[in-house]
Amino acid sequence: MEDIILERRSIYPPQFTGEEIPRLVIERMLNAARFAPNHRLTQPWRFVVYSGSGRAQFAQTWIAANQNHAGDSFDPVKAETFRSKVMTCSHIITIGMKRNPIVPEFEEVCAVASAVQNMMLVAHEQGAGGYWSTGGLVFYESLKAEFGLEQHDQLLGFLMLGMPKNIEWPPRLRHDLDHFVRWID
Ligand SMILES: Cc1cc2nc3c(=O)[nH]c(=O)nc-3n(C[C@H](O)[C@H](O)[C@H](O)COP(=O)(O)O)c2cc1C
Repeated sequence: MEDIILERRSIYPPQFTGEEIPRLVIERMLNAARFAPNHRLTQPWRFVVYSGSGRAQFAQTWIAANQNHAGDSFDPVKAETFRSKVMTCSHIITIGMKRNPIVPEFEEVCAVASAVQNMMLVAHEQGAGGYWSTGGLVFYESLKAEFGLEQHDQLLGFLMLGMPKNIEWPPRLRHDLDHFVRWID
């Protein structure tokens, strides 16, 4: 397990082969998600999985929301770049947090982030990869309904997934323990 944690890296669409991640791998990722710790068993994670022609639907939803929001400053070139990035992915999974007021909101966000980490670790273990993408769209209220969320819920981003090419593995970029740990013996 420790090896998997230390080896996992964010992998981006230019580094994807274009192959489809087997559905069983995606199911194993989703299964691991639900075993994340969560206070009072609220299980706040909600996912929508796009693959195949669903990816075009995802891209169109994203572009329409962006166009609606940007108005005259909508950039069609950027939109097309985004569409081709989406079509390079094998799967896109939207990351939603279903709010339950029996616990503080930050606990729900933490639980969903734990679930996402479980998914990314299983993806890596199974030879797949990807990254957690956010950006301004997570704040568009109009997108919540598209992804099965209501007003008090939060869209926390998108997992952009693919099979990694045989690339030079990205380096470890992390502070040493001394930077962020205080030991009190
Ligand atoms: C909540 C969250 C949001 C992120 N959003 C983006 C993003 O919008 N674009 C991006 O390129 N990477 C995004 N990332 C990935 C980080 O950039 C990446 O995890 C970081 O560079 C460390 O690299 P590693 O994952 O390979 O260890 C996000 C990561 C997290 C946890």
